[in-house]
Amino acid sequence: MSKTVLIYWTMSGNTQAMAEAIANALTNVVPVPVSDASLGDVQEADIVLLGCPAMGDEVLEESEFQPFFDEILADLSGKSVGLFGAYGWGDGQWMRDWEATVNDANGNVKATWIVGDGDLSGVEEFTAAFR
Ligand SMILES: Cc1cc2nc3c(=O)[nH]c(=O)nc-3n(C[C@H](O)[C@H](O)[C@H](O)COP(=O)(O)O)c2cc1C
Repeated sequence: MSKTVLIYWTMSGNTQAMAEAIANALTNVVPVPVSDASLGDVQEADIVLLGCPAMGDEVLEESEFQPFFDEILADLSGKSVGLFGAYGWGDGQWMRDWEATVNDANGNVKATWIVGDGDLSGVEEFTAAFR
């Protein structure tokens, strides 16, 4: 059976709500705040689900999530990856850039999911890629 890890960062809870919806839809997956996550969690997993909202100017959160992502990026090679996060006023550019970065590192981005209005119904389509 494949092992899935679900790691997220949130400031105001929207990306956390997405992580919890993903965990509800998949079995044997527990959302882990990035502050509690380690490189080993990623290395042990076959499927890596990462959540971070659009921050700064269409970038990942820079003090906590980006350093963790930089640390794990090489280990995403060959793994199935899902990327998700909440956003506000933008058009999702942070997610397009994030997906390209993972694919350039030979990670296999199977699905992305962005939410700008609190509607979590997209969780079904997102999680279907990892069942
Ligand atoms: C400092 C800061 C920077 C942000 N930058 C962007 C941005 O570049 N593009 C965007 O669409 N939303 C941006 N947002 C909006 C957040 O992505 C949005 O509020 C999101 O729901 C936060 O997710 P969270 O509740 O998981 O923290 C920004 C919010 C803050 C506080």
